[in-house]
Amino acid sequence: MPLVPKPLGVAAAVLCFSLCSSLLLLGAEAKVRHYDWEISYQHKSPDCFEKLAVTVNGEAPGPTIYATQGDTVVVTVHNKLETENTAIHWHGIRQIGTPWADGVAGVTQCPIQPGETFTYKFVVDRAGTYLYHAHYGMQRVAGLNGMIVVTVPEGVWEPFRYDDEHTVLLEDWWHKSVYDQATGLSAKPFVFVGEPQSLLINGRGTFDCSKLANSTGLCNNSHPDCTLPTQFTFVPGKTYLLRIGSLTSLSSLSFEIEGHLMTVVEADGHYVRPFVVRNLFIYSGETYSVLVKADQDPRRNYWATSHIVGRNASSTPSAKAIVSYAGNDPRKTPPTVPTTGPAWDNTVIRVEQSRAIVAHPGYAVPAPARADRTLLLLNTQNYINGHTKWTINGVSLHFPATPYLVSMKHDLTDAYDQHPPLDTYDHRGHDISAPAQTNGTIGSPVYRLAFDSVVDVVLQNSNMLNDKSETHPWHLHGHDFWVLGHGEGKFDPAADAWRLLNIKDPIMKNTVPLHPDGWTAIRFHANNPGVWLFHCHVEAHVFMGMGVVFEEGVERVGRLPSSIMGCGHSKGLH
Ligand code: C2O
Ligand code: CU
Repeated sequence: MPLVPKPLGVAAAVLCFSLCSSLLLLGAEAKVRHYDWEISYQHKSPDCFEKLAVTVNGEAPGPTIYATQGDTVVVTVHNKLETENTAIHWHGIRQIGTPWADGVAGVTQCPIQPGETFTYKFVVDRAGTYLYHAHYGMQRVAGLNGMIVVTVPEGVWEPFRYDDEHTVLLEDWWHKSVYDQATGLSAKPFVFVGEPQSLLINGRGTFDCSKLANSTGLCNNSHPDCTLPTQFTFVPGKTYLLRIGSLTSLSSLSFEIEGHLMTVVEADGHYVRPFVVRNLFIYSGETYSVLVKADQDPRRNYWATSHIVGRNASSTPSAKAIVSYAGNDPRKTPPTVPTTGPAWDNTVIRVEQSRAIVAHPGYAVPAPARADRTLLLLNTQNYINGHTKWTINGVSLHFPATPYLVSMKHDLTDAYDQHPPLDTYDHRGHDISAPAQTNGTIGSPVYRLAFDSVVDVVLQNSNMLNDKSETHPWHLHGHDFWVLGHGEGKFDPAADAWRLLNIKDPIMKNTVPLHPDGWTAIRFHANNPGVWLFHCHVEAHVFMGMGVVFEEGVERVGRLPSSIMGCGHSKGLH
């Protein structure tokens, strides 16, 4: 049933998109969507190599959650991992009024122990494409992830048309267990996870078993999990919306469909000024919707591929899915050699694409003219007591045993670091091309933001210990931010860099890349009471400390559910 007569609906949608979302939904028939999930380890061979994967009801990736804007999603999680904790984050959902449902072990809740059941309940207040994944240690890379599709309510229209849609979840995949990876990262000397063995599209990839010197029998190129690539059916002449999300652990990707152009129309739940690409660069934690017209020769099939960019990963095969035109045998291999994608080290074209992403004219939310506070966050790689760590302004983030939300709400002041972290690094004195080996510290600090203030963050890249600079996709929990700009080299707050930033029609996102040797500036409104993680979405990097924590208006947060407590200093609280 339409909520409001159509013309009004469109106007309300425009208004609502920028301002409130909830206004429109007053009186709407919001539904409650219940999901019951068993989280367990299963043997899986997504790329023909058998390994243990963390699954949702036996599947990795897990099921796509479908809901309509304004609905309440209730997910009951049963931890059947037997010997491992878990927690699940709903990536891109702002959790307005439910900061305890954000699913970050150490920040918003205690981990869910084996045998325990935990219920997440939150409102999906804005249409768009979102993600979910484990947020406990490095568990995400073991397979616990999936997508969330939130559609516009009846009577409300998106600023584009399509006939049908497909979801496309991109991942990278290792044969080493998640324990092996994490142990290497914390070892002295440090052992990096290395490049992935394969890339997956909707959980399927291919690893050539003959590449293994002594196949242990764990690799089987005729395993049913991996023999058929993912297929997307196109009916000739129709237009498809592809909802593409990346939950890679490490890799930046380029996605393309042979012979077809893609029109980018949505990013992280916001409509963008449409632009056409042959290949889409997508970073971990980002989602994009693209329109693709089935306008090619319908007598054959086409490759849809993802390739690694930003790192030299020539040994990792590209992921290949098949776009099959209706009427063809969907399994029929396209007659062409799959493309290899753009040069991995062409940073310029990636920065250009990032800059092309601005708000759709009818939906732009201008950024506030200025900020109340500016944080200059410099990332450096440091040796700390023989460990290789990432630090932000000299501090490597370590999650405390007591979730910040609980300790801050209940004034458990010895549960986290009381020293405020630095708002700015020595930007004049720091040479971003010199590998910083200064001794940083490991800690659990928090940036306390004045409630309702406007905050700017300038992320500044610098070289790693190996003298290279790489891409870091930064994700903010609990908010969308305005992407003000991407720049090269060192951001100088004294110079006129500020003038060059886009406050007129910036796109709003929850994840944005910080490109090699550059900086990225964002602005957000600290108006969502809670404690929120802001971190690099590369799983190994956040594990090594690449993140910060923001608190705003914690005193306004309602009574915390006792289900998030029980660990660290929160024992006995309720
Ligand atoms: Cu998808 Cu804290 O991340
Ligand atoms: Cu990173």
